[in-house]
Amino acid sequence: MNNFHKSVLLDEVLELLQVKSKEKYIDATLGGGGHALGILKSGGIVLGIDQDKEALEHVALKLKDKIETRDLTLAKGNFRDIDKIAHLNNFGKVKGILYDLGVSSHQIDEPKRGFSFLKDGPLDMRMDSESPVTAEVLVNLLKKEDLIKIFSEFGQERRSFAIANAIVKKRKEKAIKTTGDLSKIIESVYGFRGEVSNFNKNEINKRVFQALRIAVNNELENLNESLIKAVGLLQSGGRLAVISFHSLEDISTKKVFENLERENMGKIITLKPIEATEEEKSENSRSRSAKLRVFEKN
Ligand SMILES: C[S@@+](CC[C@H](N)C(=O)[O-])C[C@H]1O[C@@H](n2cnc3c(N)ncnc32)[C@H](O)[C@@H]1O
Repeated sequence: MNNFHKSVLLDEVLELLQVKSKEKYIDATLGGGGHALGILKSGGIVLGIDQDKEALEHVALKLKDKIETRDLTLAKGNFRDIDKIAHLNNFGKVKGILYDLGVSSHQIDEPKRGFSFLKDGPLDMRMDSESPVTAEVLVNLLKKEDLIKIFSEFGQERRSFAIANAIVKKRKEKAIKTTGDLSKIIESVYGFRGEVSNFNKNEINKRVFQALRIAVNNELENLNESLIKAVGLLQSGGRLAVISFHSLEDISTKKVFENLERENMGKIITLKPIEATEEEKSENSRSRSAKLRVFEKN
């Protein structure tokens, strides 16, 4: 399980979801199933959703016994459709829902998935391999202005204009097909000579790749749409927990929770987002940017 993905803020999530035996929970981002297993071990009954069939296949094997006892149900789908998926699987009223956003380590580590600039692979970045839009499609077909918008809005990238320009120039010569092709273009813009360290080079590649990934998977729109639907699935006293890794995800979550509170739908449990302990941060670098927010329905 840990090779596939190491769960972030596991103890904190379990404590704040107040998992109770025989109550129903939805894990909207199943991944390697670490959080789902935590809920199952505390006696909860879980519906695990993921749009990535490799994640579902992994958990189907790993937690076969829990599926056999019907404590765990798996569903392939986008959490944007959480209401439909929940009703189809008889999870129409639940005690808790978890979102652990972003990509799993498995997705990043597999070169063929095309998420990482560190490993050459096809420029893919789809969490759902059945979706028609890959990063290659966006990089080769989007207008320059749209690329600039993606890099600056989702990546807060200072040189968005120059990177988009370089992409448009390069793709006129030859289609941009691999993660290596893209990172070479990014590096050509910055130059990375002499004084610029490998650290900076990685940070810039990371920002641009992450921005593109957010666009390929429509991540922010899906999150906003899904959180509103999720509240409708909660029982009175039920809790919604969201772990985000990107400031825009965290801001969206915060806004949705504040609006819900204003409409007297419930209360925010985490006045400030919860972060990983220093110990967890040192053991799992992914946890460093994690922020957990929890809302309780009236
Ligand atoms: C960070 S991982 C979750 C890890 C998991 N909590 C664990 O403990 O192993 C995020 C997972 O959510 C999935 N995911 C992201 N956005 C999704 C969406 N809109 N719909 C369904 N699954 C999504 C990804 O495919 C990935 O497997």
